[in-house]
Amino acid sequence: MLRALAQPTIDHRGPTFAALGREVLERLQRVFQTSGPVVIYPSSGTGAWEASLVNTLSPGDTVLMFETGHFATLWRDMAVRLGLNVEFVPGDWRHGVDPDILHSRLADDRERAIKAVAVVHNETSTGVTTLVGEVRRQMTAANHPALLLVDTISSLGSIEYCHDEWGVDVTVAGSQKGLMLPPGLGFNAISEKALAASRSARLPKAYWDWQPMTRDNKSGFFPYTPATNLLYGLREALEMLLEEGLPRVFARHARHAEATRQAVRGWRLEILAANPLEYSNSLTAVVVPQPHDADRVRQTILDRFDMSLGTGLGKLKGRVFRIGHLGDFNDLMLAGTLSGVEMGLSICGVPFNRGGVMAALDYLSVATPGSPRLTGPSPHRAPEFTSQVSAQSDPRDNVG
Ligand SMILES: Cc1ncc(COP(=O)(O)O)c(C=O)c1O
Repeated sequence: MLRALAQPTIDHRGPTFAALGREVLERLQRVFQTSGPVVIYPSSGTGAWEASLVNTLSPGDTVLMFETGHFATLWRDMAVRLGLNVEFVPGDWRHGVDPDILHSRLADDRERAIKAVAVVHNETSTGVTTLVGEVRRQMTAANHPALLLVDTISSLGSIEYCHDEWGVDVTVAGSQKGLMLPPGLGFNAISEKALAASRSARLPKAYWDWQPMTRDNKSGFFPYTPATNLLYGLREALEMLLEEGLPRVFARHARHAEATRQAVRGWRLEILAANPLEYSNSLTAVVVPQPHDADRVRQTILDRFDMSLGTGLGKLKGRVFRIGHLGDFNDLMLAGTLSGVEMGLSICGVPFNRGGVMAALDYLSVATPGSPRLTGPSPHRAPEFTSQVSAQSDPRDNVG
């Protein structure tokens, strides 16, 4: 990957570039699971959020959004700043979008004032997913014509996602998570309905405008200077994902996520996500028992073991740390990560049960990759394995 990124930058108006452009755009469609256009911006994920809104909506349009966590809240703030009228359904940051609330909001909207429903597939701040297929089912059940916009910034390439099958109109993504790249690329996958909406949408747009992008992309080019070296990396990342096969990639993350949860349960700590059907396979947020400060645990682990865990964002500051298990990740990386956490908890005097690492290792030894036992009823859920170690009483158990 680093070698791919380090290749010399070529003329982005020349024929070699056009081949690169066409190749990444075609492979991206396979990862988004769409036959429609995917556009690439030289931007962070926030830019791709903005592109999804300004291309499809007009000033004063109503957007239905859900407070599932920090990133859903930031997307709401952006929509408000752009002059949209946001209905923001409050949430406790431990659940995804509630399908019943969604259905009743849409059914009550007899004037069809709601022009878009915008949800975050995987809340990176909480480790909670929203079941996007269920969101689409409720929109269809309410016979509501709103567009469906979905943020997959921390799920694409890690958790099963089907833009076309789930009837998503705009999928927002970024390069720096499941696509394993440095930050700097933002993506929109676009349905025909969203493209049609963009022809009459009146929010101001220039840099983010889909029209010149989709026009020039047809021949592999971009309307302005693309991030050529990141596109080299993207070609490599897409090759890696498609070579492994998306079902295997998703199963790998499901297995590492379940092993992580086995560790958390083994430590007798709390997983922030409240509903097992909504567990994230990209990351796990772990609640640190008060009065202990999660950021002190993180800082200790960084200082002692040079390992950086995710911090608690927004109202979770100091309350949780987040273990990432997405991207190019394997069993021994996870074993090292969990060992660092267990040592850090111990050094900081957090009350926990030793043995979480052993529980995870037991799980990883039994649940071999491709094991039929990993095929649970939900794409977000692997079956539970009982750990012999965590089931034993441990003399080192320091939970009072
Ligand atoms: C789910 C989600 N949405 C949006 C963003 C914002 O993306 P960026 O920081 O790349 O602008 C992030 C960043 O981590 C994210 O995790």
